[in-house]
This record gives sequence, structure tokens and C-alpha cells, in this order.
Amino acid sequence: MYEFAPQTDAAKPELYRELVEAARALTAGERDAVANMANLAALVWQFVPRLNWAGFYRMVEGELVLGPFIGKPACIRIKPGQGVCGAAAASGEIQLVPDVHAFPGHIACDAASRSELVVPVIRGGAVVAVIDLDSPDPARFDAEDAAGISALAEAIAAVI
Ligand code: SME
Repeated sequence: MYEFAPQTDAAKPELYRELVEAARALTAGERDAVANMANLAALVWQFVPRLNWAGFYRMVEGELVLGPFIGKPACIRIKPGQGVCGAAAASGEIQLVPDVHAFPGHIACDAASRSELVVPVIRGGAVVAVIDLDSPDPARFDAEDAAGISALAEAIAAVI
């Protein structure tokens, strides 16, 4: 059993420091990418409040394919450049979207989603996956969330 006790009311930098530390502990010594992504999605869900979807899309043969996640069933394949995840995959840059309805081409997987944060996971100079977080609250994510999830992406790039 893994018992993490996130202080979800802590300041964001502290919360994300704890998340990254927990992520390293949880994946240490495990080589199975699916197992690691499944646990990491659950960990993000536990640590980061006000989400309705949290998980991974993996780059497989040039397109994003749904990976382990928590939330409602989601679209399975996303082409680079398509929607928020595809924009992150194509550019290799974080996508912080305060209002998903204002994002051209946003793919609605859950009608409850209002804002979104997508962070590319880069290994060997290439985008190998993206971490996607959706919130039912408008403008839920800020630069501290982006920095925190980016630190997570860097920490786990070798184990997914
Ligand atoms: N909204 C995303 C699609 C994935 S779901 O949010 C889980 C997008 O526009 O890329």
C-alpha cells in the first residue's frame, strides 16, 4: 500500500515539490511504463485539487494515443496540431488554456471541462507523451501549476 498525504491546501510550489518527490518514490525501480503512468495519473489526481480529468497521451507512430488516466472516457487518438494536446505535442511547449471554449480546435472529452493544462514529456529531445489536466473551473491553472507539472514531466520522462 502506498500512503501519500498531500497537503492540498499548501502553497502550490510546496504541493508540487511533494508531488514530484512522491512520483519519484512511486516509480523508482519500476520499468513498466503503463504501470508507472497509471500510478502517476492517480497520484496527480490525489495531489492536485479541482480536476475532472488527469492523465497521459503517448506519442505512438506519429500521433497521440490515450494512455492511463483518471476521469471520463476520452478520445483515443489525437493528431499533432489538433486540439490542446496536439498543440503541445507539435510545438513541444506547455499549453495553458484558461478557457477551453476560446481555444481553436479544442477537443471536448468531458463537457464539464472549462480550463486545461497540457505539458509535453520530452525524452532524447523528442515529445514522447503529454500530461493532460482538465478542470471544471475556468482559469484553474496558472504559471505555478505549469512549472509544477513541468517538473513532474521532467522527473518521470525516463520511466514512462
Ligand atoms: N481537450 C483535449 C483532449 C483530451 S481530453 O481533454 C482528455 C484537447 O483538446 O486536446
